[in-house]
Amino acid sequence: VLPRHVRIVEVGPRDGLQNEVKPVSLAARRKLIGALAEAGLRSIEAGSFVSPRWVPQMAGTAELLALLPRRPGLDYTVLVPNLKGLDAALAAGAREIAIFGAASEAFSRANINCSIADSLDRFAPVAERALAAGLRVRGYVSCVLGCPYEGEVAPEAVRDVAAALAAMGCHEVSLGDTIGAGTPLKARRMVEVVAERVPVPRLALHFHDTYGQALANILCCLELGISVVDSAVAGLGGCPYAKGTSGNVATEDVVYMLDGMGITTGVDLGRLAAAGAWISRELGREPASKVAQALMTR
Ligand code: HMG
Ligand code: MG
Repeated sequence: VLPRHVRIVEVGPRDGLQNEVKPVSLAARRKLIGALAEAGLRSIEAGSFVSPRWVPQMAGTAELLALLPRRPGLDYTVLVPNLKGLDAALAAGAREIAIFGAASEAFSRANINCSIADSLDRFAPVAERALAAGLRVRGYVSCVLGCPYEGEVAPEAVRDVAAALAAMGCHEVSLGDTIGAGTPLKARRMVEVVAERVPVPRLALHFHDTYGQALANILCCLELGISVVDSAVAGLGGCPYAKGTSGNVATEDVVYMLDGMGITTGVDLGRLAAAGAWISRELGREPASKVAQALMTR
């Protein structure tokens, strides 16, 4: 059964801009997020409290949070890998954090410099303290449909990490096809296995579009009742620790597909595409979104 409404988590300002070679100014990050909120997005991943030596693009997230528009129902999430990141997020007034693990050992080491087991040990006190401070905690599992270093990843490995994050109190666990290698039936099978341990209403899809499969994969998983989809305006991004990958599925493409299916998102496609066209101009390139390109030539 398809959902009637899908909540889109816009990750462009984080997952998109974290991968830019040329750092994007705070003013541009602020303007992008403002435009996305104006387009009707209500869940926006604004940045990361990670080591600036690992990901210099996300430096300044504390300053950014102070500049963002605040209104009821508009939520910002920030990535936090450890207690140091949590302290910084709390000091900056964050209301929701995301902890991020992986289903593959090699990717876990490349991305956060520790094993999967060590990462879970590290996340547990982060989640506990964040929840005690009244924050919401989201969880990510990376490499759910393949790893840039290890290749195939077993759905059972995804399930176990997702279950561990859910048990720590993550209200939602987002399943990341970090390298965009998945295909629809594999994606659905993976979600079915994860759903043995984490109920479908607590799952989100976070698919990169490297091989052009993301929309097909999303549709196949929506049929299982998932109703939260992560995407990035203009298809920005990619993970700095997953070589050769491209951006997240474009928010424009997701909204266009769902609009056409009568599934509501609350997002205004025209305003969204304008925000995507603007940030793409700032970055000196065309939006990766086919829908955005089609709208621009009309
Ligand atoms: P480490 O080197 O093992 O950490 O890195 P450490 O604890 O040994 O500390 C090393 C230095 O980093 C120290 O500074 C710390 O103070 C500093 P120094 O004394 O050398 O000057 N440090 C920090 N600084 C600021 N904020 C912090 C922080 N923690 C330590 N929170 C660490 C471990 C996790 C810190 C590092 O590996 C890291 O920052 N990784 C972040 C990687 C990242 O952001 N990746 C991209 C996001 S994940 C993604 O894109 C996938 C996703 O989209 C889903 C999908 O698509 O699958 C979510
Ligand atoms: Mg990602």
